[in-house]
Amino acid sequence: MSIQSIGVIGAGQMGRGIAQVAAMNNFKVCLYDISEEGLQFGLDFIKKQLDKGVTKGKWDETFVSNTLANITKSSELSSLSDAELIIEAATENKKIKFEIFKQLDEIAKDGAILASNTSSISITEIAAVTKRPQSVAGMHFMNPVPVMKLVETITGLETSEETISAVEAVAEQMGKTVVRADDVAGFAVNRILMPMINEAFYTLYEGVANAKGIDDAMKLGCNQPMGPLELADFIGLDTCLAIMEVLHEGLGDTKYRPCPLLKKYVTAGRYGRKVGKGVYEY
Ligand code: CAA
Repeated sequence: MSIQSIGVIGAGQMGRGIAQVAAMNNFKVCLYDISEEGLQFGLDFIKKQLDKGVTKGKWDETFVSNTLANITKSSELSSLSDAELIIEAATENKKIKFEIFKQLDEIAKDGAILASNTSSISITEIAAVTKRPQSVAGMHFMNPVPVMKLVETITGLETSEETISAVEAVAEQMGKTVVRADDVAGFAVNRILMPMINEAFYTLYEGVANAKGIDDAMKLGCNQPMGPLELADFIGLDTCLAIMEVLHEGLGDTKYRPCPLLKKYVTAGRYGRKVGKGVYEY
């Protein structure tokens, strides 16, 4: 199955990154967002990223205009009815994702694959709200999408081999390396990454070191490009908390309990970089 047209749901930091990388690799992309304003912001961001590449000598103006010509935008979900693959990158919230997949199942053409960029919600559960569970898979991109080389693919209980292979071929055509994971809470990346971030919050909460000290320790001592607290702000503290809750509930082990300090920041609306305030102020 050779895929050429992709619908992307959500023009936030993940969706716009996925749309950009797909368009840069010659896929025809329709970027959908419920908000016209969010859509325009997403497209402006993509253009800015592409223009930066020209300034840095990575590609030329022709590449930018060809890439932009591969992207159309829409705030009508029905515009995705021709897509061969639809990648959902909406808010990490079960209710929202289930509703989107129910609607996608109605509008997507026969044979179209529905993928979710969820970082922790069960693909089997998402697939179960559709009448095509064999054509639903996880396609988990990392942030920032244009920079990070990994796509974690996830097979739900009913996902067919044809579906997962097609999704993996698309990820590879986008220049990514694939790691396939089973549909268990947190998959592979967040099963490992989030407990580390959560532990960094406990380290801060217990006063073992201050925030800068914790981040410097992991950057300078373990060669991580960002310290865990800086990374949490980058991902979004609300997203980190949501993933820890999925790990805690899904795996049932108290070692995954979210740190009270992480919860407190989220309650206070300190979601990280995207709102200008998290562990740090921006
Ligand atoms: N979008 C596109 N490109 C970006 C970008 C963005 N938001 N931010 C940075 N870049 C690009 C820059 O243009 C630059 O490209 P070139 O080298 O080609 O010029 C490159 O990335 C490096 O950027 P900078 O020099 O500005 O900054 P840096 O060296 O400090 O790197 C970083 C920034 C790439 C984000 C680096 O700090 C890093 O790798 N951090 C860790 C990121 C990470 O772990 N992501 C995974 C999070 S987990 C996840 O996403 C999954 C989940 O479910 C939670």
